[in-house]
Parts: sequence; structure tokens; C-alpha cells
Amino acid sequence: MSNVVIKDVRLYGEGDPVDVLLTDGEIRDIASDLGEVDAEVVDGTGQILLPGFVDLHTHLREPGREDTETIETGSAAAALGGYTAVFAMANTSPVADSVVVTDHVWRRGQEVGLVDVYPVGAVTIGLEGKQLAEMGTMAAGEAGVRMFSDDGHCVYDPLIMRRALEYANSLGVLIAQHAEEPRLTKGAVAHEGPNAARLGLQGWPRAAEESIVARDALLARDAGARVHICHASTAGTVELLKWAKAQGISITAEVTPHHLLLDDSRLETYDAVNKVNPPLREASDVQALRQALAEGVVDCVATDHAPHAEQDKCCEFAAARPGMLGLETALSIVVETMVRTGLLDWRGVARVMSENPSRIAGLDDQGRPLAVGEPANLVLVDPETEWTVRATELASISNNTPFEAMTLPARVTATFLRGRITARDGKAQQMRAPDDGSGPSLAGRMRA
Ligand code: NCD
Ligand code: ZN
Repeated sequence: MSNVVIKDVRLYGEGDPVDVLLTDGEIRDIASDLGEVDAEVVDGTGQILLPGFVDLHTHLREPGREDTETIETGSAAAALGGYTAVFAMANTSPVADSVVVTDHVWRRGQEVGLVDVYPVGAVTIGLEGKQLAEMGTMAAGEAGVRMFSDDGHCVYDPLIMRRALEYANSLGVLIAQHAEEPRLTKGAVAHEGPNAARLGLQGWPRAAEESIVARDALLARDAGARVHICHASTAGTVELLKWAKAQGISITAEVTPHHLLLDDSRLETYDAVNKVNPPLREASDVQALRQALAEGVVDCVATDHAPHAEQDKCCEFAAARPGMLGLETALSIVVETMVRTGLLDWRGVARVMSENPSRIAGLDDQGRPLAVGEPANLVLVDPETEWTVRATELASISNNTPFEAMTLPARVTATFLRGRITARDGKAQQMRAPDDGSGPSLAGRMRA
């Protein structure tokens, strides 16, 4: 494999600039000046090197809705966003509730080769919440599925959730919960509060999320299992996470970039680009989520990248599908909400976008320290630049970004997957050539 040298870059944005040599998929050398080396040169002047980002919550829509995103286009979006691993949610068509689907998604991701695509298996058959899927078979397959979720739906039956946690515990895998008590959100399209009331939109109360978070913390405690909360969206969820962690319960949580920046004042226009589950909440929730991410009460950022077709978004608010794009804008939103506000430094960004999600998912080759001998899964960031979001310029097939026309800080200039450049200067690379030796081995990929 060819060598790459990143010149004059600051690791985690700290200290003096160094040169970093990438060889055979690893960081081979770090020195103040490596001089002339036989390698492709990437200029890192004024830039920051971080471990590649890991997204625990991505919807790639393949199989089934390839008109809105594919593993190939979603992988390109991920690479452009600085990601080296993404977890593809199970709410595809067919649902990823069998090893046939999960292994297919894994293999297709490796064929494309721009980011490691880890399939998430469904907890229940057809995401129906009635009967457990064969988690063990999916875990034992080629993809080695490590995370299970009915995301899009809540595992609402407490007995099914209890059994899923017990089963997951014995398999050493993780359950990620979309916390939404369905009896409280029937017909809901927006956050329940003064804005929705004034606009005549049916409300999704905070308690629908918080009651499931509280319940699942208790179920995880009793099962001695780990549980992960998808897209935490309320100040009350933050308080429950604090309480559960203080009890020693194995609970982790993610927050999305959109819940860190936007609130329900955006509903004013009735533009369904702002429709998402859980809904955009109030400014006080946004502040609580930022604080929680800074303090480690919320562990990580996950995009919930949710592409949707024009006809499913440009329609009456109540009829539109929930969800928004996220992969290509995530870093900039985190910089805007967390770095520019002084809540996180660049080490903190590495922690919440790379190290913590990697640890939660049990990956052994992501979120690693920037040190010699470590896997070269990296992202190079220009912290000073600004850019204006244009949906039509994003790699995703769909255009449903809520950040359209916003000017945002910081941008990914290059992403490296096992030392290979997967995105550079706003362009994703072509698919990996077969058998070029840059794929991971199954054994080397996961923690035992
Ligand atoms: C997601 C989708 O479109 O698949 N939509 C959303 O509003 N977040 C499902 C989900 O993450 O709950
Ligand atoms: Zn969800």
C-alpha cells in the first residue's frame, strides 16, 4: 500500500506541528520534521489531526430505499464528514433482522471501502416489538453484529425489552433504544409545548422519552446488562442519565447535532425539513444537552443521518416522514455548539465523536490515540474555515438538511481509513479496488 505523509499538523490541535507518516494502514512515525519521504504529501498547515469519527446511528436505506440513499452514497457522505466507521440502522426493507441482511450490508460496505459499515441488527422481528430476532445468529455471522436496535420504533413492551437485555448480556452485545412510549405519541408530529399548541400541531411530550429511559435503566440494572439511549432530546433525560450513572447502572447515551443546535421555534414555517423523531425541543433542553455532553453525562454525538425523498418531505407537516441528514454537517455543528461556546476543546471533540462511540460499540481499531503503531483511521480538520451548506452539493442522494444556507465553522479536509485517503478537499474517493489488502480482518476488528 502507498505511503502518506501529513506535514505540519497539530495533533488534537495541541503543541507544535509535526509530520505524521502512514504506512501499511498504521501510523508509522511522528516527528517534528520527517524530511523527504517517498509518500503522497498532504499539507496539514494550520490544521488539526483527530482520530476518525465513529457514528453509532446512521440510516443508509439500503436495502429497500435506494432512491434516497445507498451504502455507496452514504459511505461517501460519511467519509466527507470525517467518519471512518458508521453503524447502519436496521429499519431497512427488508428489515435487518436476519444474518442474510446484516452480512449483506457488511459486505457491501467493505466493497465500497470508504468507511467501515457495521450493520445494526433488529431486536425484534420486523421491528414489530413482538418476538425477539435471532440476535445470536447475527452476532455469529460474518458481520459479527455487536449492536441491536429497533430504531425508528421503541421496544415498548417491558417484558420483551427485559428479555432482549438478558439475551444481549449473555451474548456480550449492546441494545440501543429509541426511547418513545408509543401510547403517548400517537399522532404526534412535534414537541408538545407552546409552539406546537399555537401552530396546531399534535404534541410529543417529553415524558414519552423519559419514561422509557427510566424504565430501561431499571431493566438494565436488574439484567446486569448495558443499554444505550439513542438521540437523547430532553433536560429530563439528562437528569435520569445522571441518576442512573450515579447508581452504577451501565447506561450510555448519544445526542444528535440537530438537538444540539435547533429548537422548536423552527416549526413556524411548517417546513417538514424540521420534522424529526424525537422532535426538536425547547431552548432549555438544547442548553441541558450541551452541558451534559460537555460533562460526559451524555457520552457521544451520533448523527441519526436520516435521508428522505423529496415527496416524503415536501408535503403536509403531519404526512411528512421524520428525519434529517447529518453526516456531512456533524463536525461543523459540534464546533459551532460545543467548541465555539468553550464547552469542549479539540480533545473533547475526539472524545465525543470518536473515542466514546468506539468504546460503546466495542471497536478495537477506532477512536485510538494518535500514536505510532496505531491504526491510521484519522481525520484532518481545518478549524478556521467557514462554509455554507447547500443540499445539492452534499454527497447524499436526499436533500433534507435542516442546515441549508447556514454558514458553519470548520471543515474536514481529509479522511484516512487504514491509511488510505477516502475523502479529500470535499471529494470522496472512488470505491476501493477489490483485494487491495486494505480491508480489515474479522479477527482484528473487534474487541474480544
Ligand atoms: C429515523 C428514520 O428516518 O429512519 N427518523 C427520525 O426521525 N429520526 C428513525 C429514527 O432514528 O428514529
Ligand atoms: Zn430513532
